[in-house]
Amino acid sequence: MLLHAPTPLSLADLTALTRDVADEVRAGRHLVQVDPERRWYRLLRSDSYVDVWLISWATEQTAELHDHAGSIGALTVVSGSLVEQRWVGDGLRSRQLRTGRSLGFPLGHVHDVGNPAAAPAVSVHAYSPPLTAMSYYAVEPGSVEKGPRLRRTRSVLVESGSSEGVG
Ligand SMILES: [Fe+2]
Repeated sequence: MLLHAPTPLSLADLTALTRDVADEVRAGRHLVQVDPERRWYRLLRSDSYVDVWLISWATEQTAELHDHAGSIGALTVVSGSLVEQRWVGDGLRSRQLRTGRSLGFPLGHVHDVGNPAAAPAVSVHAYSPPLTAMSYYAVEPGSVEKGPRLRRTRSVLVESGSSEGVG
């Protein structure tokens, strides 16, 4: 089944795709809403190889620490800025993603993405193969020798066209 085959798209392909779609969003070709109650998202494209999501982030909205199961992914910030915290093996490393910034996430990438800024942010995300599941994690203190470690707290299936926490 195609959904479980290795992705034919590279991280560079996915990053370029999110940049193209971000340009479409800036050109007004996709409606964007911001919901202060919960993260707003829309599935823009979906086929056997890739899905593309448009996401808006009101102040303080976050995705929670998660992976992307068997998918690789990429994002581009359309407007505003986001902060990514990614797991680097012995803790979380933070980086700010300003308007226009893109990044790709390979298999095994565990991160949280959020908007701590006062202004809303908008981003475009692409996943290949299409996102089917995500696991969520907590960072535990661990031992003095080994330092903090990740503990998986739950896994969720991503239904086609909807998501608890795509990001
Ligand atoms: Fe993510």
